[in-house]
Amino acid sequence: MAGGMRKLAPGRLVIASHNEGKIREIKELVEPFGIAPVAAAALGLPDPEETGTTFEANARLKARASADGADLPALADDSGLSVDALGGDPGVYSARWAGEPRDFGRAMDKVKAALKAKGATDYAARFICVLCLAWPDGEDIVFEGEARGRLVFPPRGDRGFGYDPIFVPDGFETTFGEMEPARKHAMSHRADAFRKLKKACLDR
Ligand code: IMP
Repeated sequence: MAGGMRKLAPGRLVIASHNEGKIREIKELVEPFGIAPVAAAALGLPDPEETGTTFEANARLKARASADGADLPALADDSGLSVDALGGDPGVYSARWAGEPRDFGRAMDKVKAALKAKGATDYAARFICVLCLAWPDGEDIVFEGEARGRLVFPPRGDRGFGYDPIFVPDGFETTFGEMEPARKHAMSHRADAFRKLKKACLDR
C-alpha cells in the first residue's frame, strides 16, 4: 500500500505551522531527501481558522490553504489529547481547553474534574497527531500517529508542554513531562505519524 503512494519530489515544501520547534523537527526529517522546508509565515501565508471537528479535517484545511496559497506542496499537522472516558475530549479542542491566555494547569484541572464528574475509573488516553501532505494539484495524503497511555493526577514534571505532565505512556511509570525529551520524541504520536509519512512519501 505505502509503496504505491505518491512520493514527495525534491524541492520546496511549505510547513503550515507557526511553531518553531515543529518546523525544526520537520526540517531535520526531510532535508536528507533533498526537500527544503519553508515556513508558511515566511511566505506571508495566512493561518486559516481551525474550523474542523476532527484532527484530519483541521490538518487538511491547513495543508490545503498553504498548498494553494504558495502553489507548492505543503505539510500541516494537528494534534491533541483524546481521553477514552470523555468520549475523545478534549480532542481537537485541546489547545482551546486551556483558554486565553493559554494555561495548561487549568486545562489539566478541567480534565480531572470532567473524569470525576463522570465517575470514571478508567483513565486510558491517547495523544493523536494527524499529518496532511497536500499538493497544489488538489491531491492530499493523511497519516495518523498515536501514543497510548493513561492519565495521572496531580501533574508531574516540567520538561514537556501541554498535557505532558498528566500522561504516562504504556509500558512506563514516568509522565511525558518527567521524561528525557529524546525518549518522548522517539515514542510520541508525532514520531509515529512521521514514520508513516517517511515510509510512504520519502523513502525511495
Ligand atoms: P496543535 O496541533 O498545535 O493545535 O496543538 C494541539 C494541542 O494539543 C496543544 O496545544 C497541546 O495542548 C496538545 N498536545 C499536542 N501534542 C502534545 C504533546 O506532545 N504533549 C502535550 N500536549 C500535546
